[in-house]
Amino acid sequence: MLNFFPIHIDKKSKSPIYQQLGDALHDLIEQEILKPNMKLPPIRTFAEHLKINNVTVVNAYKYLENKGVVYSQMGSGTYVSPLPIKETPSSIFLEQLDSNEKDLTTPEQNTINFVTLSPPTDLFPVDDFKALFNTVLERDKGNAFNYQESQGYLPLRESVCDYLHHYGIQTSPDKIQIISGAQQGIDILSKALLRYGDILFVESPTYHGAIAAFQSRGGRIIEIPIEKDGMDLKVLENYMKLYHPKFIYVMTYFQNPTGISYSVDKKRALLNLAEQYDTYIIEDDYLSDFTYSSRPIVSLKALDHRNRVIYIKSFSKILMPGLRLGFLVLPKSILQSVLSAKHTSDISTSGIIQRTFDLYLRSDLWKKHSKDMQNIYKDRYACLLTEIENLLLEYVSYIPPEGGLSIWLQLKDHYSIEEICNRLLSYGVIVSPGSLFSFNTSTLPYIRISFATVDNEHIKKGIQIFYDVLKEYQENNKKGLSH
Ligand SMILES: Cc1ncc(COP(=O)(O)O)c(C=O)c1O
Repeated sequence: MLNFFPIHIDKKSKSPIYQQLGDALHDLIEQEILKPNMKLPPIRTFAEHLKINNVTVVNAYKYLENKGVVYSQMGSGTYVSPLPIKETPSSIFLEQLDSNEKDLTTPEQNTINFVTLSPPTDLFPVDDFKALFNTVLERDKGNAFNYQESQGYLPLRESVCDYLHHYGIQTSPDKIQIISGAQQGIDILSKALLRYGDILFVESPTYHGAIAAFQSRGGRIIEIPIEKDGMDLKVLENYMKLYHPKFIYVMTYFQNPTGISYSVDKKRALLNLAEQYDTYIIEDDYLSDFTYSSRPIVSLKALDHRNRVIYIKSFSKILMPGLRLGFLVLPKSILQSVLSAKHTSDISTSGIIQRTFDLYLRSDLWKKHSKDMQNIYKDRYACLLTEIENLLLEYVSYIPPEGGLSIWLQLKDHYSIEEICNRLLSYGVIVSPGSLFSFNTSTLPYIRISFATVDNEHIKKGIQIFYDVLKEYQENNKKGLSH
């Protein structure tokens, strides 16, 4: 390993040797030649290799530790910090996000869109909302268009509590904050809880919109790898000992992008760690409505007896994203700061939308729509799985999520995801590359395929194109034509 370090020490230079060494290592970390959590060489060996004193290496490591670029573990050594050292927000990440969002909002005609998680507009319950809008206008007249209380329309907060009761979450209207979509929830929580430079933990990979919001509020993000039943708790606990995160952001059901759901054991362990290390967990429930197995849904919030969980619920995927509606269930300790963060953001979520949605939640229309959507998506999910099983298994592996709106495909390591995505695009198929969901690693060999807007006919067509592209790519690779 030492031979690969291009380190030049100038013993005649005026700057101290420890500093020269520290700066050289800093450059290597910045260029990601030395990667997060990589162990730096043992002091004695490194000193011998560079023909300098042990103490100089010790001082260089201390110099880097003071800058927050490395950390030391007693009896084990010095490691590269997992924290990004460049200024936040990461412009490269945001550029990537931006271009992906463009694909989302302006897909070419005839494109098979495996990117978006939003339902197609023909599944929106437009007629029901039209009737309920009219009912609200006749009942409330101009009040429907007045400023609404910042915390949210009280009858809606009451019906939200009834709704949550079905999911085993016991709460009261004074702990509910109505928000203009889950994205706003993530943003106002960041605004209320983070100060510039504060540390927070996320699953790796994770939802890019959350990363962007945390970065825009100056948060420093540590990614915790995700396993098939939730976060890697050993890594999490190690980092808990080293840093004190303001919160841990998780999706316990059908995680975006991996589709992973947490086991009950992991949920309990996560709650215990949050209590032990005195931090909050933000549970983003953007999708638990879509479960295709008989497994009951038990959110972290339902298990949270010590008020460690901040629960976010979105209605964008089950209903209509343009409603811009969701809610938070808040621990009392942060209620006031979140309320004022919401107030300074947009004063309140639209009153007419809240009043209409309140009637919708109270009616049976809600239950019927939710059942219909589940059936449609369950059918698409089964179709996508069959097509993958029939055509792609030679090239990809995956864990069936048994719910949600997407499948996370792992491709063979040496495949160029960028090239495959570009080739798919040239045939009119758009997918989300794995790199979009992590800001540390640009080379995740994954692709997320979402079936939210794609019917069975197009799923079959799209996966056939995927197969053709992979087959061609592999053949070219074998002939040495690729790359
Ligand atoms: C995990 C996750 N959280 C939040 C959101 C944002 O949802 P909303 O439309 O409610 O703002 C999304 C959107 O895709 C998401 O995937």
